[in-house]
Amino acid sequence: MTRTLADELARVAGREHVIADPEVRASYERDVTGRYRGEAALVVRPARDQLPGVVRACAAAGAAVVPQGGNTGLAGGQIPLGGAVVLRLDRLDAEPRIDRAAAQARVEAGVTLADLQRALAGTPYEFAVDHGARSAATLGGMAATNAGGSQVFRHGAMRAQVIGLEAVLADGSVVTRTSGLIKDNVGYDLPGLLVGSEGTLGVITELVLRLIPRRAHRLTGLLGVASTEQAVELLAALRDRVPSLVACELFFPEGMELVSAHRQVEPPFRIETGAYVLLECAGDEPPLDELAAGLEHAPRPTAEAFADDTAGRERLWLFREAHNEALNAAGVPHKFDVTVPLDRIARFEREVRRAVEPSRAVVYGHLGDGNLHVNVLGPPPEDTEIDALVLELVASHGGSISAEHGIGQSRRAFVPLGRSPADIAAMRAIKHALDPNGILNPGKLLPALVV
Ligand code: MLT
Ligand code: ZN
Repeated sequence: MTRTLADELARVAGREHVIADPEVRASYERDVTGRYRGEAALVVRPARDQLPGVVRACAAAGAAVVPQGGNTGLAGGQIPLGGAVVLRLDRLDAEPRIDRAAAQARVEAGVTLADLQRALAGTPYEFAVDHGARSAATLGGMAATNAGGSQVFRHGAMRAQVIGLEAVLADGSVVTRTSGLIKDNVGYDLPGLLVGSEGTLGVITELVLRLIPRRAHRLTGLLGVASTEQAVELLAALRDRVPSLVACELFFPEGMELVSAHRQVEPPFRIETGAYVLLECAGDEPPLDELAAGLEHAPRPTAEAFADDTAGRERLWLFREAHNEALNAAGVPHKFDVTVPLDRIARFEREVRRAVEPSRAVVYGHLGDGNLHVNVLGPPPEDTEIDALVLELVASHGGSISAEHGIGQSRRAFVPLGRSPADIAAMRAIKHALDPNGILNPGKLLPALVV
């Protein structure tokens, strides 16, 4: 069957775009954390107009299809299971088209976030979602997982940026909602449904994205604070007093040490501190005065460093953004990406560290929207006890077991902690209606059916 399918895919996409060699396939079969490894029957790299034919060929052969963007996903959603065909979308990379009057960008799914940022340089616009994996993460993958990043508390996650999209469904038909009209209420919101569906309902091929005005001045501040409670108080003091605040990130001394050692960089200040808060402001005027006035109402930092030039700002951001990379170099972490109500963050952070002992938790995240990344080094990857422990604690605090990385493989068994039986039944019904043979990204997102 595989040889026949390989021939058929070669007929549709060209022999040079069908990869069967196990050595070449290998990089598409494992993720950056080293936790997820799978096996693909084939990897195919279609052009956009070949994609419906590729999906139809796979459907006819009964072969499962796993869409893959930049392979930066952290929940294993993009990794093939049981010999599926990986649909690599890197050839969908036409130059983004910017509509200045409408403040919109039209991008193909394989365009990276950094490429969009480059295309917007020199325009009056920016893209609202940003995160550390920008150079490899594709906009199609970010939409498929409803990715978030550091500016969500001001601008929302990917779903809030998607005005429209085109997607190929399981039977090879194409849904198109790419007019760019922001008022268009004809029926169900299919783009809203496809965003965050992690390749289980359709393969996103093009996006129409909302843009935000580019602000002339940016300022980054790294502040030491005595405790997590004080970090939350600081956020409360700044949120409304500092309208230019676009990011408020949190990390801890263990993360500062890990990143400094991994990247061989000196921390901006050496002082004992309970937590670090990284602030980013963007304004039409230099934001320092506004920020300084806001900080008057916040707990006094133990130390602080500010930068308003690109190199200086990037130096401060590195201590936060290199956490993931430093962790992956240290071992194979159990990664949790959770949201907890802001008034529970400090308690949750204390309790989760205690719950995973004697293992070490490295905690960091996006304080502005209550999103913590809890990383546990020590227990072997297959130890699911630790996963249950952490995610049940999250649920007991009224939190969400998946904030911005998606469910993928990693959290599918725990979906009932976040969704009722009625919710899950409705999701299954949608999946069955759009993909009755279950060829799109099987084994992901929805919990396994217990029969
Ligand atoms: C981040 O916020 O750094 C990313 O979501 C990646 C991670 O969780 O490590
Ligand atoms: Zn994050």
